[in-house]
Amino acid sequence: MSDGPVLVFDSGIGGLSVLREARVIMPGRRFVYVADDAGFPYGAWEEDALRDRIVALFSGLIETHRPALALIACNTASTIVLSALRQAFPEVPFVGTVPAIKPAAERTRSGLVSVLATPGTVKRQYTRDLIRDYAGKVHVRLVGSENLAGLAETYMRKGFVDEAAVSAEIAPCFVEQDGRKTDIVVLACTHFPFLVNRMRKMAPWPVDWIDPAEAIARRALAIVETLPGGDALPDDKDTVVFTSGNPDQNVQRLMHGFGLSAG
Ligand code: DGL
Repeated sequence: MSDGPVLVFDSGIGGLSVLREARVIMPGRRFVYVADDAGFPYGAWEEDALRDRIVALFSGLIETHRPALALIACNTASTIVLSALRQAFPEVPFVGTVPAIKPAAERTRSGLVSVLATPGTVKRQYTRDLIRDYAGKVHVRLVGSENLAGLAETYMRKGFVDEAAVSAEIAPCFVEQDGRKTDIVVLACTHFPFLVNRMRKMAPWPVDWIDPAEAIARRALAIVETLPGGDALPDDKDTVVFTSGNPDQNVQRLMHGFGLSAG
C-alpha cells in the first residue's frame, strides 16, 4: 500500500488545482483522481449526510486503489470528514485542505481579510475555530458563495465564464473600514483558483489571492517522502474515477488534458 498511488479527491474539477502542483513535486508517484460528481456540489450538503457519504465512498476507493496517501482536495469535505476518515482507515495517511486563514492573518497589512468559500465551509465550526486560534487580531469576513464552484465547473468544461456573475459573487469580499481596505482574499475552495484571473479582473481594487494548492502538495510530499518509493512505471497513466460513472464529453476531454485516463 505504501508504494501505491496518491489518491486526490474532490467533488468535481476543483482538486485538479491541487493535483497539478502535487504531480510536479512527486514525479515518481502514480495519481488517481476521484471526482464525486454524483455528489456535486458539496457546498449545499447537510454535514452528517456528507460525512457518511464520503466515508462510505472511501471504503471502496481504498480497497480498489490501495493508495499510499489520500489527499482530500476539497475544503468543504475536509472541514468535516478528516477525523472520521482517519478513524475509519488508520492505515492510510490523509492530507486535507482547510482555509488558509493562518497565513492570511500573518500577511495582511490592513488587518482586513476575506475568506471566500462554499456556504458549507463558511458554516463549519472548524473554520470558526481557525479564525479564533489564528486570526484573533484580524477582521475576517466569511463569504459563502452559492455559485462560484458551479461557474468554475462551467468554465473548465466549456471555456465560458459569466464575468458579471463572478463580480457579484466576489463583491462581498471587499470591505472598507476606517480608511482601510481588504488586502487578502483566501481562496477556500479548490475550484476557485481556476477563476482567479477573472476575479482579479472584476475586483474593485487589487488584493492578494491566496491559493493554498502548493502548500497542500508540499504537506503531502513531506509524508510521501517517509514511505517506500512509488510504484509508477514509465508507461503508467494517471487515472480518473467519476462516481457518476457517466461524465459528459467536455469533462472527459478536460481530464484527458490533465493527463488522466479513465480508471
Ligand atoms: N472544491 C470544493 C471545495 O474545496 C467544493 C465545491 C463544491 O462541491 O461545492 O470546497
